[in-house]
Amino acid sequence: MSAALSDGAPLLSVEGLHAGYGRIPILGGVSLSVTAGDFVGILGHNGMGKTTLLRALMGYLPATAGTVSFAGRDITTVSSTARAKLGMGFVPQGREIFPGLSVFENLRMGCLLNKANEQATIAEILTIFPRLKAYLDRPGGALSGGEQQLLALARCLCGAPKILLLDEPTEGIQPSIIEEIIEVLQAIGRERGLTVLLVEQNLNFIASLSKRVLILKKGVITQEVAPEVARDRTMIDEFVGMD
Ligand SMILES: Nc1ncnc2c1ncn2[C@@H]1O[C@H](COP(=O)(O)OP(=O)(O)OP(=O)(O)O)[C@@H](O)[C@H]1O
Ligand SMILES: [Mg+2]
Repeated sequence: MSAALSDGAPLLSVEGLHAGYGRIPILGGVSLSVTAGDFVGILGHNGMGKTTLLRALMGYLPATAGTVSFAGRDITTVSSTARAKLGMGFVPQGREIFPGLSVFENLRMGCLLNKANEQATIAEILTIFPRLKAYLDRPGGALSGGEQQLLALARCLCGAPKILLLDEPTEGIQPSIIEEIIEVLQAIGRERGLTVLLVEQNLNFIASLSKRVLILKKGVITQEVAPEVARDRTMIDEFVGMD
């Protein structure tokens, strides 16, 4: 049984998280908290540990120190499947849709945690993604990169997550679809109050969506900046710089 989440308590809370690959430490003590309904963006250059952080939060990589709590419960040693069941949704870098399955079958895979209401769930999610409705019988792999990103998002939402962890959704995607993804995420935040933690390098994307922006540098959160600041490349280069 998970503990009830008291008013004002963070939905996701991370304290001094360390994780890495074998003996290589990558996260050197990440601390952050995300309250329900928040939209938090994390900016960091290539190789700074963005994917590693999300993988550690999802339990794909073990924490070597520190704690992760979700919905009032310590999940530091909980399996990734159990984290998904608790309501943590993850859209990985590179989308990872099933290219050989149709768009509809991809969405069904997203309903595995929510099977009883499969048809109704898919119908409801498709109202947010009208573009996908026309492609239901197409193999996922036949969609453009941007459409695959929309599919990956839609598939994740079929699992009715409480928090959405997004790993660089704009990577390799055309500007027109980036705008569409911004609109979809804004609508989901506004209409469903979904909580989102996003890692990105695209300044306009992160600034357009985030209520708070954190800077990840060499495996630690070094500071928080206002979303408007994230639009200013000169300032951001200083904060996220490689030195
Ligand atoms: N499986 C792995 N084994 C060993 N080292 C890894 C592994 N995956 C990532 N790394 C290293 O961990 C560091 C952080 O990688 P990570 O993928 O978290 O960065 P990132 O911020 O997501 O980068 P990008 O913007 O390129 O996606 C890098 O130095 C990377 O080489
Ligand atoms: Mg990455």
